Amino acid sequence: MYLFSYATLKNDSHNGLHFAWSRDRQRWVSIGNEYSYLKSDYGQWGAQKKMLTPYLFIAKDGLWHCIWSLNINDRVFAHTASADLIDWGRQSYPELKAGANCINPVVSYSSKDKTYVIAYQDKNQKYFQTTTQNFRTYTPAQEISAGRYHNDRISLDLVEGRATGQVHKVAWDVVDKLINAYEVKQYRASLYRENTKQDEERFKDLKKLEVNVKLEPQKAKSISDMLLGVFFEDINYAADGGLYAELVQNRDFEYQPGDKLGRDPSWNSTYAWTLKGDHTTFTIDSTAPIHPNNPHYAVLNTTTPGATLINEGFDGIPVKKGEAYNFSVFAKRIKGAAGEVEVSLVDDQQGVLAQSVLNISSANWQKLNAKLTATAGSDHAVLQVKPLSSGILGLDMISLFPQNTFKGHPNGLRADLAQTIADIHPRFVRFPGGCVAHGDGLANIYRWKNTVGPLEARKPQRNLWGYHQSVGLGYFEYFQFCEDIGAEPVPVLAAGVPCQNSGNGGAGQQGGLPMDQMGAYVQDIIDLVEYANGPVTSKWGKLRAEAGHPEPFHLKYIGVGNEDLISDVFEPRFTMIFNALKKAHPEITVIGTVGPFSEGTDYEQGWKLADKLHVPVVDEHYYQPPGWFVHNQNFYDSYDRSKSKVYLGEYAAHLPGRPSNLEVALTEALYLTSLERNGDVVHMASYAPLLAREKHTQWTPDLIYFNGTEIKPTVSYYVQQLYGENAGNEYIPTAIDFSDTRDPVVKRVGVSVVKDTKTNDLIVKMVNLLPVSVKTSLDCGDLKIAHQKLVKTVLQGNPADKTTRPEQSEITLGDQPVVELPAYSFTVLRVKM
Ligand code: AHR
Repeated sequence: MYLFSYATLKNDSHNGLHFAWSRDRQRWVSIGNEYSYLKSDYGQWGAQKKMLTPYLFIAKDGLWHCIWSLNINDRVFAHTASADLIDWGRQSYPELKAGANCINPVVSYSSKDKTYVIAYQDKNQKYFQTTTQNFRTYTPAQEISAGRYHNDRISLDLVEGRATGQVHKVAWDVVDKLINAYEVKQYRASLYRENTKQDEERFKDLKKLEVNVKLEPQKAKSISDMLLGVFFEDINYAADGGLYAELVQNRDFEYQPGDKLGRDPSWNSTYAWTLKGDHTTFTIDSTAPIHPNNPHYAVLNTTTPGATLINEGFDGIPVKKGEAYNFSVFAKRIKGAAGEVEVSLVDDQQGVLAQSVLNISSANWQKLNAKLTATAGSDHAVLQVKPLSSGILGLDMISLFPQNTFKGHPNGLRADLAQTIADIHPRFVRFPGGCVAHGDGLANIYRWKNTVGPLEARKPQRNLWGYHQSVGLGYFEYFQFCEDIGAEPVPVLAAGVPCQNSGNGGAGQQGGLPMDQMGAYVQDIIDLVEYANGPVTSKWGKLRAEAGHPEPFHLKYIGVGNEDLISDVFEPRFTMIFNALKKAHPEITVIGTVGPFSEGTDYEQGWKLADKLHVPVVDEHYYQPPGWFVHNQNFYDSYDRSKSKVYLGEYAAHLPGRPSNLEVALTEALYLTSLERNGDVVHMASYAPLLAREKHTQWTPDLIYFNGTEIKPTVSYYVQQLYGENAGNEYIPTAIDFSDTRDPVVKRVGVSVVKDTKTNDLIVKMVNLLPVSVKTSLDCGDLKIAHQKLVKTVLQGNPADKTTRPEQSEITLGDQPVVELPAYSFTVLRVKM
């Protein structure tokens, strides 16, 4: 057979390697033009990830190798290899130091030197070559004459359009496997597209269903007692303008145009601030700041008092009548005698809600505080700062917190939002990301040391989701929150590499921290353990004590890496961190990472590395359509129990349009029954992302939406909460008989029975994702639940429902316990044994 390999025809929207086959080189049949057998993972999310001009060949190792050009700018190409053209190994992106860019790379083999020669063009019509023996190390690229460059690509007319690529001669078996892989992919995709809109048709013959559930307590097994937790990432304004209770936006005057993706000149030190009135100027200075980490501050130069500096907060400042607010500012008199400043909370309809006056007398930075008590409330007040005498003032860290923060902590968290998270009863909190943890480019890696200590000395930075991180909510506050809600802290730190989707400061992850900086980076991670757990006499333990927490935080877990590209850049850095942490702190459980998907190269390679290093837990991520979750409830059933445990660190069911409705929530509930069943290998799981401020979301769906005054948990939130409230540490297997055993029916009913051995409660969770009710008979054997008081909680409604809430009742079951599961419902029964 002839096999034609070519790149996606429309390179702007897709990327990847495609195939067409022919018996006679005349009539070509493409194998699923919409399906890429290999995708390039270089560069920023979306359109930057491109495969241009792939060049495919069989090397002396018997493997297919593919190299390609990545874009028309960078002096970089890509390489990977595969045994069957279907499963591909790691991608590497060797940098070329010659030429303006790398176009149309081709490969030849010199048997004399046992060397592969990679020749390429650049945009100046010059030709270059580099050589390699192993596709890991390359000789420096050198210019060659045009005559030494042979591009044997040809162009063909396929049904889909004209494509340029190479023709290879292969056995039919190769083509057959490619076709099979495509068909399997297509078949699976059709299953995963299933959703409740098709239920009327799919279940037209299904009028009722009866199910017998027989508990098998003799087969009970221990499961993780920390299965359900939360994933906190500073995305969607989850921190500043979110969980962090600070009400002033840009309090530090450190917003920068570069905080925004694509730079926004209006997003600068004056953002969210305006000056109203005459005879005062408002400028930004950076001479003699409070701290070099916080270089910008406001200067108010007043000739005749009257003007006010106004902060709009995050979509306005919510103020509650009768509540007290803590105002603070760092101020200095730059010119003029000591003078007073009036600070007010003002609503444009109601006028002044609260007021206080401060005296600024020092020529050096001085922190001043005032308490503002609101005589009236407003959902969108502003903060006004008004000099009452002439002169020049420097102002920085202008801050306003409600006194009523979560647990009353200074520099605390928004009470209603923190409580909503606490109500999930999470056994752990992962923070600060997600992609925020490994950052957009090397300079954006989240460094915990920049986020602790006095607020004015912390180092704010650009948030990769396109805004600003004041880091007022830093590692101390995260640890404190975990302690407050009885959850294990799970910090996730970069593995010395930034996000593979980075666009800032070099495309993608290939820019890992230089090896000569890795020692210091590893030490930073070891220091984190000392900060969290060390004695107050230790360097970092002392800093924690100075922040008000002499007792240790009892840190037990550290995540290293976040769904990274498992590359030759990643592996040595991860290994270095893992080994050093293990040696210095064997008591810490390290969580590794296995890529962003439930399959594919990073998943495979990540698991291989975890096996090699015996990483105790690995972090899996997958956002999938509901159909995926329905059809993959056996995902962990066959996981090898002797290998790493799993932390399913990010997951959510995504329907087209990404609504947060009952359908996705029930699908998640269904899948969670399978996670409990596999709770001996799945150690932890967290839905992602957790929080989103309305009008400031970069990702949807999220578990909890909010604005300045309201909290809006989604239906998925209640599923998480029901699992959190009803966790167990022992799993009781069940044998289930269905009156209708068709696969689509059986797959839409899930049952999980757990026992909490501390309370001796038996908990039965039952999910019905069918359009008909299910009569469920429970045979509990020796675990007698008949005639006992049970708490029954039911979440039900129409699949598209976004507002349905769980309803609780107390019931007593008869001798033959039968429970009716309504159509599209999640039922939890809880009973004391
Ligand atoms: O949860 C949102 C993002 O999804 C996370 O930052 C990242 O880890 C994943 O891709």
